[in-house]
Order: sequence, then structure tokens, then C-alpha cells
Amino acid sequence: MKHYKYEAIAAEIEEHIIAGRYRPGDRLPSIRILKEKFNTSISTIQNAYDYLLAKGLVESLLKSGYYVSASAHQHQENTPVKSKPVIVRDAVFKHHLSAITTWNQQRNAFSEFNVAAAGDAFIPQKLVLRTMQQVIRSQGIGLLRYYPANGAFHLREQIVRRAAQYHTGLHAGELIITDGALQALYIALASVCAPGDVVALESPCIFSILEVIRMLKLKVVEIPVDVNNGFDIDYLKKVCTKHTVKAIVVTPNFHNPTGTLLSNDQKKYLLHLAQLHQIVLIENDVYGDLNFTEQRPCNIKAFDDSGLVMTYTSYSKSLAAGVRLGWLSAGRFFHRAEQLKFAIGSTVAPIYQETVGALLQSNSYDRHIRSFRMQLAKQAYHTLGLLASAFPPGTRISTPKGGYNMWVQMDARVDMTAFYSYCEKAGIRFTPGYTFSFAQVYHHFFRVVFADKYSRTKEKAIRLAGQTAHTLICTD
Ligand SMILES: Cc1ncc(COP(=O)(O)O)c(C=O)c1O
Repeated sequence: MKHYKYEAIAAEIEEHIIAGRYRPGDRLPSIRILKEKFNTSISTIQNAYDYLLAKGLVESLLKSGYYVSASAHQHQENTPVKSKPVIVRDAVFKHHLSAITTWNQQRNAFSEFNVAAAGDAFIPQKLVLRTMQQVIRSQGIGLLRYYPANGAFHLREQIVRRAAQYHTGLHAGELIITDGALQALYIALASVCAPGDVVALESPCIFSILEVIRMLKLKVVEIPVDVNNGFDIDYLKKVCTKHTVKAIVVTPNFHNPTGTLLSNDQKKYLLHLAQLHQIVLIENDVYGDLNFTEQRPCNIKAFDDSGLVMTYTSYSKSLAAGVRLGWLSAGRFFHRAEQLKFAIGSTVAPIYQETVGALLQSNSYDRHIRSFRMQLAKQAYHTLGLLASAFPPGTRISTPKGGYNMWVQMDARVDMTAFYSYCEKAGIRFTPGYTFSFAQVYHHFFRVVFADKYSRTKEKAIRLAGQTAHTLICTD
């Protein structure tokens, strides 16, 4: 028996979800409508939704309401590496990846869901280009000189000021401006690791990060990222008792491809483990600004007083991929990192530094982010709805909390080779799961990027891929 009215209301909504009357991605009735329907108070309805949120059946979006989460119809299995024994492996690929993962210059595919960059409609073109022109007019010849190897001081100060707003204390003196996030990762890893060292790496992990690790000739232990709970810190704990791990590479805020977010408690626990074993913790924050709900999450750096944490990010995902500017907060490894930055190309082009500096100073960047992240949240739920209705019932889809990536696990009976071959011929591009690991796993997974506006053609592409998946289920 339900003791409270909110429990009865929650039970009724849950029943609709379980019966499939509300499907993943569907927007649920507003608080106002339910208040009238059940003739009750706003707080009772709010409690009912809070209860469903806690059960993982619904997600809440700032200013947009409540939606059925992807996990409502599925019990997400842990990712395949979880149950496996801890294996240290060489960073070697068994296949050739560039054709699948790199951007297609012609963009001639029927529909692309594989490029992790905002589509043209979501890039604030006018804002960026106008700011660049203003910078050119005001700075003139100054843009044609060398800047300090670790970047313009006023830009670093703007970055520090902004990070303070999400409770992450940075110091301008230990920041290095880089040509995007990957370069920052390269510098971070090369500052603390030598060839043959073992790094603990989130799994699944994007191809470009794997590539940096491969280039540095490191060894890896892949740490499972659970689509519901994120980076498996207990698994890492087990690894640390068996191996000397030099660095941890992790994306706590909106991991690519699962979209998971670590809570502050998880972040603190991970930091505690790193400090206990004196492991450098390298955190990626490229999607940190693109949260779907109220609070912009802080970085692990916010809790660190040891200098062991290195945080890096860029404006490639939040502004435009062609603005080649990122940064690394190098903590106690600053001097080594600064030398490396100097050796691989010294300063980032002044035009990018001044443009980003101006966008941060005027708060135009924040205004853009406010609308962009809400558009992305809507895109996420639209994508969820499309995938859930098009693909066979055994398909599991992650519900991202931010960013623009979604991780899809197909029914194990689907013939994936035939699926990709169909998609390739039809010009429908997803990023295949096997590109997300050095191990031979994730064959039945793929990533969907939802950072481009939907057209009828794009929606049709998802439906066609889903229909094809239905026909490719082997039943014997
Ligand atoms: C998690 C993550 N980190 C880093 C990058 C690369 O960023 P940048 O273009 O700034 O080097 C990407 C791009 O796909 C990414 O998804």
C-alpha cells in the first residue's frame, strides 16, 4: 500500500512507463498539468518526480521538464571489460581506423552521426567571426608576433576567473594554453610517463585519446565505464593493488561516448585513490560546459591540494572545432609541461588567444553556452526517442547527462558486420564500438553524435538503420 499521495502518483507514472505508454525520450506531463489532474499541490508532484528521478526512470531538464530516461526499459549491463581479469596491454590497434573516425571533407554521406563536433547550425558563427574581426582591428600587428609559450597572461586570467564560477580553483601561473585538448593530453602524459609505463584508461575511450597513448608507447589497463555509474573506481582500486600505474586518464564530466557524469563523492573517492598510490590524475573536461541540468559540474581539481591532478580542456566542443585553443592546468608538473609545449610548437596562434579572451571577458561565451546546452539537451531526448522507437527491443541506449554523445548497445544477436555494411552503403555513419578500445570488445556497440540539427533525412536515416537492425537479428 502507498502511504503518501506522491507515491501513488509516482506508481501511476511508473506503470505507464513500464507498459510502454511513455517511451524513452518522451516528455512527461508538466508539474502544472499533474497538479490539476490529481488535484494536489506542486510539492506533491515534485516529490513524485524526485522519487522517479532517484529510481532512474526519468531525467529532468532545466526549463524543459521531465523525460523518460533510456534506462527505463532496460537493465544496463556493465560494459564487457568489467568482468574480465585485469589485463595490461600494449597500445596497439588491430585495425585501420582513420577511414571510419576522421572527418569526411566532402560530407557526402546520407547522414553523419560520427563526427564529434557541432554542426554548422550550432556553431555561433556570427559571434566568433565578428569577434575575430574586432580583434584584428584592435590588435593589428600585435597578432603577428610571438606570444609567451604558455599563452597570453590575460587569457589565462579569464580562464581562472570563469573556473572559479564552477568552484574550480586554478592558478594562471600553472596554466598552459594549447592547440586544442588533444595536444594538452599529449603534453600531460609526456610530462609524467615514459614508454612502457602503465596508464589506467577509461573504457570505452575515444579513438583520438587511444592514438595519443599509442604514439607515446604506453601500456594500458582499461577501466570500465558503466553507463549508469560512470568510471568504475572500485575496479581501479583492484588494479592499483596489482600494478604500478603512472597515470589515470578519465573524463569525469560527460564522458564520451556514454555521457556519464561522476558525482562529487565519486570524484573525491577517485582523487583519494590517486593520492594514496601517488598516481597522476589527468582529467578531460571538454564537455564540462555542456551540462543539461542546473549546475555546471566542477573538476576533480577543485578538491586537490596535492598538485597531482592535471586538468585539460578546449573550446572545440563548446564553441567551434576550428578554434584551435585549449588549456592544461599542469599542477606540480608545470615546468616539464611548459618545456614540452615550447618544444612542440611554442605559442598558440595569437588570433585564437585574443578571440577566446574577448569572448570570455564579455561573457558572450557564457551566453552562447546557456542556449547551446539547452538545444543539446533537446537534441539528446529527440535522438533517444528516435533510437528507442526504431531499433529492436533488446537495444540499450545511454542517457547522457551532458555533452553530445550517446552509446548504443545492440542486441547480441544482430549481425554487426552486415549492419555496418548496410550503413556504409546507405551513407549512414555511426562510430563503431570496436574503435573505442585496444581490446577486442564493444563489437555490438556504436556511438551516435547528436550535435547537428535534425532534418527529415537524418531522422529517416535512423529509422532505416533501426529497421535494418530488426532484419539482422540471427535467431538460430
Ligand atoms: C573527450 C574528447 N577529448 C578530446 C577531444 C579532442 O579535442 P580537440 O579537438 O580540442 O583536440 C575530443 C574530440 O572528439 C573528445 O571527444
